[in-house]
Amino acid sequence: MNGSISINQARLSARLAELGAIGALPGGGVCRLALTDADKAGRQWLIDRMLDLGLEIAIDAIGNIRGVRAGRENGLPVMMGSHIDTVATGGVYDGNLGVLAGLEVIERLNECGVRTRRPLAVAAFTNEEGARFPPDMMGSGVAQGALDLAAMLSSKDDAGATVADELARIGFAGDAPPGAFDAAAFIELHIEQGPVLERAGIEIGAVSGVQGISWTEFTVSGQSNHAGTTPMAMRRDAGVVAARIALAARAVADELGPPQVATVGVFDLTPDLVNVVPAKARITVDLRNTDDDVLKQAEATVAAAAKEAAAAEGCSVEARSLARFAPVAFAPDAVAAVEASAKARGHSVMRLPSGAGHDAQMYAPNCPTGMIFVPSRDGLSHNIKEFTAPEQLEAGANVLLDVILQLAGAET
Ligand code: GLV
Ligand code: MN
Ligand code: MN
Repeated sequence: MNGSISINQARLSARLAELGAIGALPGGGVCRLALTDADKAGRQWLIDRMLDLGLEIAIDAIGNIRGVRAGRENGLPVMMGSHIDTVATGGVYDGNLGVLAGLEVIERLNECGVRTRRPLAVAAFTNEEGARFPPDMMGSGVAQGALDLAAMLSSKDDAGATVADELARIGFAGDAPPGAFDAAAFIELHIEQGPVLERAGIEIGAVSGVQGISWTEFTVSGQSNHAGTTPMAMRRDAGVVAARIALAARAVADELGPPQVATVGVFDLTPDLVNVVPAKARITVDLRNTDDDVLKQAEATVAAAAKEAAAAEGCSVEARSLARFAPVAFAPDAVAAVEASAKARGHSVMRLPSGAGHDAQMYAPNCPTGMIFVPSRDGLSHNIKEFTAPEQLEAGANVLLDVILQLAGAET
C-alpha cells in the first residue's frame, strides 16, 4: 500500500464546485440530465481537464468519454470513473466524485512523477441516471455488452427525442465501438447515497455488491368523464387504478421487509384536471433487492395487483420494462483491497452492499471490479442537499489512489 502520496483535497473540492456550477439550480444542487445542453457543457469542461492532464481521449458510440494515461506496458488500462449526468434535482457529488477523483489521482501521479506498469483510465459514462432516457447505467451497459447499442440509441425521452438524436446534436456520437473501453480492472469511488456509514460513524465503505434493480412503467387506460355527474359505480378511473398499483408496491416492500424497497417516482394523470375523471395514468415502479428470487417475487406480486386493480375498475393496463439488472457481487480481492487500504490510512471501514445502481456493476462480470463509498450527510442523495464533507472526500480519494496503484503497479 502506498501511503506516501496523497491526493490534493482542496483541488478536488474546487473541481467538484466548478463542475457543479454547470447546470446549477437556483436553490443549490444541479440539473445536468443526460445529453442536454448542460450535459454537453459538462462534458466539454471534462475533456478540457483531461487534455490539461495529457490524457489520450476517446469517445465511443454511446457517448462515453475515456481519457488514458500511458503505462510502461501496453494493454488494458486500470480504470476509474463514474458519470457526470445528474437527475433533475441532483447534488454535485453523485457520479461527479468518481470521475473527478480519478482525474485527481492522475494529476497527483503526474506531479509526483509516478509511472505505472499498466495504463490508467478515467471514464465518464453516458446516462448513468436513466432519469431522461431509460434504462440507467446505459453507457457502461453498452460498453460492457450488457445492453444493445442499437436499442439504447433508440431509447426516447418523454418528448420523443432519441439518444441517437441527442448524441448527434451535442456532438458526442463517437466512433469507438462497444468493447473499446474494456478494462483490466475497474474501481469507482462514489458517495453512499444512504444513511448506513453516517449512522455507524464509519469513514469508508468497502462495497460488496449492488442490489438488483427492476423498473416497470404501467400505463392504465380508462375513460374521462365529468367529476360531478358520473356515478361512482360507472367510473373507469385510471387514476384510482394507478393509486392501487402504487399502494401494492408499498405493501409488497412492507411484507417482504428489508432489503426490499419499492418506489413510485412518476405519477402522471391525463387530462390532469380537477373536475375530470382521469382517462390515462402512467406510473413507474422501481423495485430493488439483493436477492434476485425475492425481487422476482416482488415483481410478480405488483404485476398481479395491477391486473386485478384494472379489472375491478373496468380499465386496461399495460406494463413495460424500463430496466432490469440482476444483483452483482464485486471481486473479493477488490473488496479486500479497499478494506486494507482504508485501514492502512487509519480510516474506519465496513463492508456494505450498494442500494443504488452504479457503472461499476456493468464492469463486474468482465473484470475485477470494486467500489469505495464515502458517507452522505443525513443519507440524502438525488436531492439538492446532497453533501459529503471535504475530509470524507479526501479519505475516499486516497483509498482510490492506493488501490489503483496496487492494481496498476506503481514505479517511482
Ligand atoms: C441510478 O443511479 C439508480 O440507482 O437509480
Ligand atoms: Mn451515481
Ligand atoms: Mn444517481
